Amino acid sequence: MPLDDLRRVVQGAISYRIFEEVEPDVSVRHNAASALFVIVPGFRDLLGHLVSDHRLGASKFVESIRRFPGSGEPGHSPLLFAARAEKGLSNDHVEDPSQGFFSFIADDETRVARSRNAMGMATRAPGYAASYFLDNVPWSTQQQCPKTVVDIGGAGGDLSVQILRRFSGIGKTISLDLPEVIETATVPEDLKDRLQLAPYNFLTQKMSYKGDVYVFRHIFHDWSDQYAVKILKNLVPALEDGTRVWINEIVLPELSEDNHVADQRRR
Ligand SMILES: C[S@@+](CC[C@H](N)C(=O)[O-])C[C@H]1O[C@@H](n2cnc3c(N)ncnc32)[C@H](O)[C@@H]1O
Repeated sequence: MPLDDLRRVVQGAISYRIFEEVEPDVSVRHNAASALFVIVPGFRDLLGHLVSDHRLGASKFVESIRRFPGSGEPGHSPLLFAARAEKGLSNDHVEDPSQGFFSFIADDETRVARSRNAMGMATRAPGYAASYFLDNVPWSTQQQCPKTVVDIGGAGGDLSVQILRRFSGIGKTISLDLPEVIETATVPEDLKDRLQLAPYNFLTQKMSYKGDVYVFRHIFHDWSDQYAVKILKNLVPALEDGTRVWINEIVLPELSEDNHVADQRRR
């Protein structure tokens, strides 16, 4: 980059506390925030996902709400509204409004991988970490451990990996996600016998994988109520007496006096 442009970009970043100056206007060094990009796997992917995918939607929020007020259809979301506008397609008539973000990126391998890695990163991020789930499930003794856990919409299987490594009494986990997400995901060597990654579409397929426990972690926040009901109904055929369903979501707290940034992000 030309030095002058670089200086503006880096100083802009420093004003957000990313990097710090050693000698003003001459040299910079990493600080804790900038180092995250280097040392935390998936951090770049999470940022890319937010900046490239979510930003698109933000720019069309008002227009999409005006055009489709109260719609719970994924294809009427601001993001899909923006994607069609970008391609010069009409937003007056949407052929199949059930197709949302996940269908939109399905053919784009790079974007699918980025979204999957971003989800993996989110299982370790403060506020979103899988540890809140792992610390609170009642599986502390071998007897309490379920034999098989099925994680529905498990992205690259990060939660399953953490479950299996923490609870040796669990025989097996099956992590399910869309075929394009599963296709290039990998199982760590030490868990080859206990972790299965498999394709499953929770909107269109009845559950056929047997488990004692089914987990939905950070799934329902992506969907309107009518789709959340559809997802749960597709699980019903697999449920037996005693089967457990765990739903792990962030509960939206009231607006606070002292943490406006957290309030903004959540809303
Ligand atoms: C917000 S992410 C949560 C991922 C993971 N459960 C976690 O806690 O990090 C939502 C996941 O749902 C998956 N998903 C979206 N639509 C799906 C569908 N119709 N069937 C199965 N999985 C789907 C996405 O690919 C993505 O991995």
